[in-house]
Amino acid sequence: MKEHALPHTPCITAASTVALEVQALYNIVNLIGSAVHLDTTLSSVLKVLHDTLRMERATLALVDESGRHLSIRASYGLSVEEEQRGVYGLNEGIYGQVFSTGSPFVVPDVHSEPLFLNRTGARPKIAKTTISFIGVPVLLSGVPVGVLSVDRLFGVEISFEEDVRFLTVLATLIAQFLSLNRAIRRDREQLVRENLSLKEKLHDRYHRHQIIGQSKAMQEVYWSIERVAPSGATVLLLGESGTGKELVARAVHDASPRKNEAFIKVNCAALPENLLESELFGHEKGAFTGAVVARIGRFEQADRGTIFLDEIGELPLLLQAKLLRVLQEQQFERLGSSRTQEVDVRIIAATNVSLERAVALGNFRNDLFYRLNVVPINLPPLRKRRDDIPLLLDHFLRSSNKRNEKNLRMSQEFLDFLTEYEWPGNVRELQNLVERMVILASGDILRVEDLPEYMVSPDSGRVPPALEPVLPSSAVTAAPAVPARKSLKDIEREQVESALIRNGWVQSRAARELGLTQRQLGYRMKKFDLHRPEY
Ligand SMILES: Nc1ncnc2c1ncn2[C@@H]1O[C@H](COP(=O)(O)OP(=O)(O)OP(=O)(O)O)[C@@H](O)[C@H]1O
Ligand SMILES: [Mg+2]
Repeated sequence: MKEHALPHTPCITAASTVALEVQALYNIVNLIGSAVHLDTTLSSVLKVLHDTLRMERATLALVDESGRHLSIRASYGLSVEEEQRGVYGLNEGIYGQVFSTGSPFVVPDVHSEPLFLNRTGARPKIAKTTISFIGVPVLLSGVPVGVLSVDRLFGVEISFEEDVRFLTVLATLIAQFLSLNRAIRRDREQLVRENLSLKEKLHDRYHRHQIIGQSKAMQEVYWSIERVAPSGATVLLLGESGTGKELVARAVHDASPRKNEAFIKVNCAALPENLLESELFGHEKGAFTGAVVARIGRFEQADRGTIFLDEIGELPLLLQAKLLRVLQEQQFERLGSSRTQEVDVRIIAATNVSLERAVALGNFRNDLFYRLNVVPINLPPLRKRRDDIPLLLDHFLRSSNKRNEKNLRMSQEFLDFLTEYEWPGNVRELQNLVERMVILASGDILRVEDLPEYMVSPDSGRVPPALEPVLPSSAVTAAPAVPARKSLKDIEREQVESALIRNGWVQSRAARELGLTQRQLGYRMKKFDLHRPEY
């Protein structure tokens, strides 16, 4: 300690002072140990000085970001305005003195000390000659980073040496706390930066594929795509109808080293068995009646690229065996040929029915299931990621508005209703709904009253037991009680129409959802005079 000789006040309660100091240190160590926020913890630490040791005011001034000033970072006994006024040059006043010398400084009477600036203005009312000031440096690895100071009422029976010793211990604790906190903050900032840049990259990439969604569930899908895309591994996309399996299949291809090669899509449910076989593997001239010229199949077209086998659960058993061979040996023969073809194809398969269930029913080969299920990616239904619904509505409303040269907006009630809606047809249903409403809307705002009847009726999005699919997709939830006043015919008509709407009037999909064949659905559409609306 330099400067002033320390006036000795008699230490009549030395033992109890030590006990109080130990108590104060104990409280402070506890505060630091359970610290969550730096600033509130520092303020609480300074409050302990007042509560336990009866120090009037306490401040901690630290070098600010510019490195040119000391400013008050925490205090006890100062108002916010007083704290804000407490900014000092590194050599200015007593703070500057303590900081630049790295040594404690004691002012027995602040009013007779010219270095004392009283810039905060926190001591105007106290009578002169009653306040002493004690300041100690806060040192990090021996380098001053701040000043810890307290005011004491003159005459309290504790020696200044005692105070300086105690405050120096405390300043060391604070310095360690600051250093730890800075290291944590640096690490966290680094992680936040990395996380943001990764999220931006992912978001950009998936936005380019027109995949919308920032929910946790979709983030997981994006991560899965990132992880699996670079390898050649077979991917199995699982999810209800309309959840975006085809979009994801394309995204996997586009993020893979095969992105400049072909992406070939085959819908396994679209063709009868014999045509599907030739579609997949090709045929030689004369292989069957009507095969007037040879034709290469989709596997050959996809050579070096990716083949997307949609609705893989519908693949007939005979073709399952052939597909298994392609998966194992990358080999097959065209129909009507004994020459073996070799291809280098990455397979992505998708299904909206449970393959485990199909295996249990004997409709799907167990060995093929395991071969396909190497990397499954689950696409969550919309009702399990409701925070994406407003984003999707906004996205599709923008594009429908643009396409139709309109400028429709959604009422808050409309948005709330649709965020709570079950969306059995998932994103496809949402997309079709928006397009339809934009075309039909007469005003500027989309309202709940404008929604189709099937959505606002109490059993919206549900299918009565009579129409439950044979292999129900998980989109179809338990059946509610059928209202007594409607006739069976009315109910059937409503359900057929709503399934068609949900599936964008794609009859094959609506038929599958209802557990009907396309012919049966066609018959019902005729019976109920249902037509795709002309837009
Ligand atoms: N996350 C999404 N962001 C934007 N559009 C999406 C998203 N998911 C799906 N879509 C859109 O919804 C429609 C249905 O998506 P897709 O065809 O990929 O679904 P699917 O899971 O293959 O359905 P299905 O099992 O009936 O074939 C498409 O028009 C697609 O562009
Ligand atoms: Mg699909």
